[in-house]
Amino acid sequence: MKFTDEIKRRRTFGIISHPDAGKTTLTEKLLLFGGAIHEAGAVKSNKIKKGATSDFMEIERQRGISVATSVLAFEYKGTKINILDTPGHKDFAEDTFRTLTAVDSVIVVIDVAKGVEEQTEKLVEVCRMRNIPMIVFINKMDREGKDAFELLDEIEQKLNLTVTPLSFPIGMGYDFKGIYNIWEQNVNLFTGDPKKDIEDTIEISDLSSPELDKLIGEKSADNLREELELVDGVYPKFNKEAYLAGNLQPVFFGSALNNFGVRELLDCFVAIAPTPRAKDSDSRTVKPDEKEFSGFVFKIHANMDPKHRDRLAFIKVVSGTFERNKNYLHVRQGKNLKFSSPNAFFAEKKEIVDISYPGDIVGLHDTGNFKIGDTLTEGEILNYRGVPSFSPEHFRYINNADPMKTKQLDKGVDQLMDEGVAQLFTLELNNRKVIGTVGALQFEVIQYRLEHEYGAKCTYENLNVHKATWVEAKDIKSEEFKEFKRVKAKYLAHDKRGQLVFFADSQFSLQMTQQKYPSIKFHFTSEF
Ligand code: G4P
Repeated sequence: MKFTDEIKRRRTFGIISHPDAGKTTLTEKLLLFGGAIHEAGAVKSNKIKKGATSDFMEIERQRGISVATSVLAFEYKGTKINILDTPGHKDFAEDTFRTLTAVDSVIVVIDVAKGVEEQTEKLVEVCRMRNIPMIVFINKMDREGKDAFELLDEIEQKLNLTVTPLSFPIGMGYDFKGIYNIWEQNVNLFTGDPKKDIEDTIEISDLSSPELDKLIGEKSADNLREELELVDGVYPKFNKEAYLAGNLQPVFFGSALNNFGVRELLDCFVAIAPTPRAKDSDSRTVKPDEKEFSGFVFKIHANMDPKHRDRLAFIKVVSGTFERNKNYLHVRQGKNLKFSSPNAFFAEKKEIVDISYPGDIVGLHDTGNFKIGDTLTEGEILNYRGVPSFSPEHFRYINNADPMKTKQLDKGVDQLMDEGVAQLFTLELNNRKVIGTVGALQFEVIQYRLEHEYGAKCTYENLNVHKATWVEAKDIKSEEFKEFKRVKAKYLAHDKRGQLVFFADSQFSLQMTQQKYPSIKFHFTSEF
């Protein structure tokens, strides 16, 4: 197959949702359609379950699962689909944000009864800011939930989206009769049989046809006609360019658990979802069909076996082809590396591959060369943008609890930070080390992994910081900046790259500082 055809047939996306909306169930049904798995229950949920086991055991369990589900790839009707896993738990939101830098589009899953939830809001906002094309799937239609129009309103209001339904439910919950597929103009009747994976759809291109009354009853048919008329009058017509530009979001309804409405979603997805997109770097925009390979690391996964310290770095191929045993430039380190056993991912398994195309994810074994955000090329010096660190919200001093193991502790902390588990800051005043995280769970993860993987022990001490912000000064020689550095010396630190960071102890003090030093900018992400 031609290189450009390989690019055209690829769809790399992520599914985002609030925990419990049905992301795992939907993923599984998509894999079933692709023939990648053969039974339900094959995809393990990467949710953190509280209760039965202690938290860190639960985190390890979750980590094990997330290796297996990092990338799930399958073929469907000639397209190669790569699903990138995005943890729903808020403490791991940073992982999800980073993964979103590697997707070309997303599917947003919303629970019909719960509507738009907190994590959905946060993740959709990230996608909206980056103009990532989104399709919305409203799940659990077999249950009583919110009225379809009310929900569409809520999505528009809370998520700031412009929606257009491409399917519409006929009743819901106990009365759920099926869906009308606006995209394909047919009706799919709900039987509630989850095993029915090839759905029989009935063509109804003319809504006034009496056949509709026969199928779902006169009352439901009239109701549906009215609702579809309203849909037609209220919502913009589907327009592929608007969807691809991130300005219009198609909506589907269904029940993932019952494998209902999923085929419609998938067929529309492969028809409209974007092929691998161009990506900005610090020097230029790189297009997927350029001949020379380039890609970037968006995720690093440590080996689950503590005896083997090697890690798997996940690279998104942006342009050209990635080939086994070929030399590539690690731009940050300025050295050439070649990889004898790059992994490609299929549903639930990975295999060594000789060649990967734009849109694909390659897993590289790494003994400590990679950091999240690193770029690989065929020689060109460029760095991909868009894998920032986010301003952490929890802070603690980290202390060495075993002076004999200082080296191990330093190495462990260093590697865990490269993986993106948390961020390390060094206070300017006294060189004390501070760990900052997005979620509180990470402190436990770090302590546990330091002990089990590096043989080092640490303790924490609380630190009252509201937020860390990256400092950008117009002129570092100005009196204003000098005064800021003197007055705020207690609150200044450096991140791992040496960038200056300001620790604000409250929202108020951040505002005051900003007012007092107007020429200094305080950023909430490390990239500005
Ligand atoms: P998540 O990955 O987004 O966190 O959600 P997940 O798929 O694990 O689904 C959360 C719960 O919702 C699961 O039930 C799942 O069976 C259920 N669910 C998913 N889709 C549907 C649907 O279309 N209709 C209905 N009624 N339920 C649905 P659980 O009891 O938490 O887990 P399990 O023990 O069934 O796995």
